[in-house]
Amino acid sequence: MDLDLAPDPLLAIPGPSQIPPRVMKALMRIVDHRSPHFHKLYRDVVDGLRYVFRTNGDVYPITASGTGAVETMVLNFVRPKDTVLVPVFGSFSRRLVNHLRRAGAEVIEVDYGWNRAPTYDDLRAKVESMGIKQIDVFATVYNDTSPGTVFRDLPKVVRWIKSYGALVLVDNVSALGGDYFEVDSWGIDVAVSSSQKCLAAPPVMSFIAVASSEAYRKADSVNHPSIYFDIKLMRKFGEKFETPFTPAVNYLFAIREALGIIREVGLENWIRWHIERGRAILNALTKAGLEPFISNDYYRSTTVLSFKYPAGVNPDEFRRTIYRFGVSISDGMDEVKGKAFRIGNMGYLTRKDVLTLVSSIIAVSLINGGNNASNDAIKDVFREVLNYWEPEQLSVGEG
Ligand SMILES: Cc1ncc(COP(=O)(O)O)c(C=O)c1O
Repeated sequence: MDLDLAPDPLLAIPGPSQIPPRVMKALMRIVDHRSPHFHKLYRDVVDGLRYVFRTNGDVYPITASGTGAVETMVLNFVRPKDTVLVPVFGSFSRRLVNHLRRAGAEVIEVDYGWNRAPTYDDLRAKVESMGIKQIDVFATVYNDTSPGTVFRDLPKVVRWIKSYGALVLVDNVSALGGDYFEVDSWGIDVAVSSSQKCLAAPPVMSFIAVASSEAYRKADSVNHPSIYFDIKLMRKFGEKFETPFTPAVNYLFAIREALGIIREVGLENWIRWHIERGRAILNALTKAGLEPFISNDYYRSTTVLSFKYPAGVNPDEFRRTIYRFGVSISDGMDEVKGKAFRIGNMGYLTRKDVLTLVSSIIAVSLINGGNNASNDAIKDVFREVLNYWEPEQLSVGEG
């Protein structure tokens, strides 16, 4: 079979996500990155990013996937030997620890296992019982993409952790635009995200928001060997609406378009769409007999939904058969690999797509005999898909 002759499968993985046609079309433009046309593009992109990060601070686009922005955050805002507190509740918080250790930080990990996220009470009790006196940096993932957990108490934790004088660094690669997140009002100093998830833009661009003068003061005192990821250069060039090195100009046009759609729909509505759609997918699949991997609602991510594989199915075969229906979903990573599959509830996933997604998962569960949902349950499944809220302005995506 020539795969290039077949339609591309629906992307229901935790990034990259589906891209609206209008955003794809915007890719077909290129300008001189030291010209007035680019300056206008840069300003528009930064304005749009400020809007989604909820910050009046600075935001810099970086031509690199999300990992590049995480690297930029760690290299520039952490000094070797800094004491850095990190809650670990999945693959990406574990990876953040690796980034920090490579940068020479003294990391204190607080482990939450694979099916819950930190809470304010628990984290505070643990830190106090460990007798920790100094925290230079608090670094955390907001939404851990494997297994699919969210750190709901982050704003409360930030208010408390500031009493140590800690700088707060947050990786929100997998939920920016898909769940509530406020850089300024939550008191976050530095946050990062990337293009290919809830913002519904193509992969390869990431973003770093620097929201406080303390963050810049810290960066001024840090020496690191990277030129490409140097925030001082990003700042210097950002002042003239440019990037230090050749950026992916055409991708910035696409990102401007994607951010424009979010502004037209309204960020509140864009987030509401993710929340309601996520709830509908969760309810539908649960009614069909599947079991969420994260049992407690409070910890469960909106943007990454993980479910246990139905009893008796071979995990790889299960996903392969769903792929034959034209739908891409992901396996869990690390400890969750082979135990749960993950759905990316991200960006431009329309009701038609959700119908395809939910139907194909149920179909394969039924075919494999791992599901005995009644007809009434199946009716309820499709009611869930029919009735959740979707913004009317989505026709803008078809332009
Ligand atoms: C929370 C989180 N951080 C960092 C990354 C790394 O991003 P990328 O794969 O774009 O480099 C991901 C990717 O899924 C992520 O989910």
